[in-house]
Amino acid sequence: MQINTIATTLQEWYKDSKRDLPFRATTDPYKIWISEIMLQQTQIKTVIPYYNRWIETFPDIQTVANSKLDSLLKIWEGLGYYRRCVNFHNATKIVLKNYNGKIPSDYNTFIKLPGVGKYTAGAVLSISFGIKIPAIDVNVYRVISRFQCLNKSVNINKIIYNLISSMLEYVNSPGDFNQALMDFGSLICTKINPKCKICPISTYCKAYLKNQVNQYPKIRKRNSKPHYDVVVGMIWYNNKFYIQKRSPDSMLPGLWEFPGGKVDKGETFEIALKRGIKNETGFMPTIGNKIDSIKHSYSHFSISLHCFQCFIKNKKLTYSRKFEWITPNDIKNFSFPKANHKLFNLISQKNWYV
Ligand code: ADE
Repeated sequence: MQINTIATTLQEWYKDSKRDLPFRATTDPYKIWISEIMLQQTQIKTVIPYYNRWIETFPDIQTVANSKLDSLLKIWEGLGYYRRCVNFHNATKIVLKNYNGKIPSDYNTFIKLPGVGKYTAGAVLSISFGIKIPAIDVNVYRVISRFQCLNKSVNINKIIYNLISSMLEYVNSPGDFNQALMDFGSLICTKINPKCKICPISTYCKAYLKNQVNQYPKIRKRNSKPHYDVVVGMIWYNNKFYIQKRSPDSMLPGLWEFPGGKVDKGETFEIALKRGIKNETGFMPTIGNKIDSIKHSYSHFSISLHCFQCFIKNKKLTYSRKFEWITPNDIKNFSFPKANHKLFNLISQKNWYV
């Protein structure tokens, strides 16, 4: 195999076929960095409007570092994996404090920042600073696994990394080459129905030559996700309802929610809800009607979220977490998880008030 030929062919393909994406109009490391963080686990078409709004609201790294996490989460709301936003905020504060606001171009320094892993470091440093370092996402992994018929082994990541590193020696724009591999995986060497008939490197592709393209990459079968019932209470008092803020260290960090909790085995919804609300707030509510239920899937589990009307006799709280009493009109001023928005949509078609 001529590594030089493959690298050149992919570069040529990219010149003609690359996708027109808003973050490709720049090499500003701040913009590339936030785009790559948003693109983790998330499709490009979902990211684009979030990226545009983010850049409009926070045009540079100083603005991010000096903003409150709440205002960042409001822009991030709905994009999921909120830890990315918290980590990015913390990382920008470190860049401002330790590096005078200048994003480090050194791999070992950049990768130490919160939320920056091998992929993100490779993508940002190659695109923004022209450093010859691979950026291996699922698309790139699939392309090279097929190209070389790589079976799952302890050193498969190293083999892929080394092969791309050797290709990078022949290219003049490492950022473009890394993105060429990503686009090639998204557009030609697709997971389902790969377009081998128009693939410019099929004659070098080991899986294609053996008619085994669909057998690669070898993927370990995932166990099915657990499913939980979660009960939450909409606690009304003087036409306002109670919301509380999740801890910055939890899943869905810094977002707002209703109090409640997971239903234990054998427990009724009512008992679980009374227990959850008492633990989280100190309120001893009377449970009213069920308002609605929704289903929501997270990366490692899924839930049925059941929401009940709740009544309290006094507003005395014993738990010290941050909370607010709000009206339905105030919802837009807080960041809620997607599951809550699904509930709000259903409730708004009914009567909000008890
Ligand atoms: N996925 C993540 N980052 C990407 C990029 N820069 N180009 C194409 N696909 C991507």
